[in-house]
Amino acid sequence: MPPKLDPELRRALAARIRYYNEMGIYDFYRRPVSLHAEEIAAPIAVDEQDIVSINPNSGEEMSPRKAAAIAMPVAVEADENIFEVIALKPEQSVNDPVKALKIIREDLGDCTRCVLHKQGRKQIVFGVGNPTADLMFVGEGPGADEDEKGEPFVGRAGQLLNNMIKAMGIEREQVYIANIVKCRPPGNRQPERDECATCSPFLMRQIAVVKPRVIVALGATAAKTLLAMNSSMIQLRGRFYDFRPTGVRSNDPSWDGCKLAVTYHPAFLLRDPRQKGEAWKDLQMVMKELGMKAPKANA
Ligand code: URA
Repeated sequence: MPPKLDPELRRALAARIRYYNEMGIYDFYRRPVSLHAEEIAAPIAVDEQDIVSINPNSGEEMSPRKAAAIAMPVAVEADENIFEVIALKPEQSVNDPVKALKIIREDLGDCTRCVLHKQGRKQIVFGVGNPTADLMFVGEGPGADEDEKGEPFVGRAGQLLNNMIKAMGIEREQVYIANIVKCRPPGNRQPERDECATCSPFLMRQIAVVKPRVIVALGATAAKTLLAMNSSMIQLRGRFYDFRPTGVRSNDPSWDGCKLAVTYHPAFLLRDPRQKGEAWKDLQMVMKELGMKAPKANA
């Protein structure tokens, strides 16, 4: 039997986790817990000296004990794993995917979590489409047109993506479309690693709500961020990956993740149309997986 947590420490941890949750952080990593007697006396590898809580009423720093004292009562007594109980995302308590996506959007708020919020973005581009789509496309980040309209892939690259979707025999409204980062990087530069890392947990939560059967990562930024791999497009394309959104524990026994395929970004295909045939091969692989048939060319 693992040692029981001291109730006061447990409450302090609950307050701390709730504090992080309120900032949109749900992923926690634990060091292995040892059962040596001397370590049972100090059972959790958390240095309270390093923990600073902010009093929500006064905005002042306070100790975890004080944080625990003013925290809302937390129903954790019955469950052994405090992290599992508290780290459930708020949208996981609703069944309706439209409502769940709305909760994630509200959680994102008028986001200032990375520098992109002060580098000329007009609006956050959350994602669009069928909230129960079998197929999801993930791009890099909004450009000028998307920033203007608040919708992903509405510019020239979006027109090409629409044509690719049509060629598969479906409509844009049937799929879900989102990006790794939700704010336009200035001058359409590639998003930085830390910007992707800050923003992508929200995308992971969107994926966990939509529960697609297949995700198509459009371009290297999407592929590398979703797969946490640093390979070239040549290495990444041409196969499926098993994908589960990181940091999201599925509360749906019928969804244990999905397949992910990588293809070229439509903006790259506009610059180098000779690669369209390769992209079409990728999409045909996806169609086969989803049991889809392309419409006849002259239909
Ligand atoms: N490029 C992207 O990666 N995403 C968009 O939404 C538009 C262009």
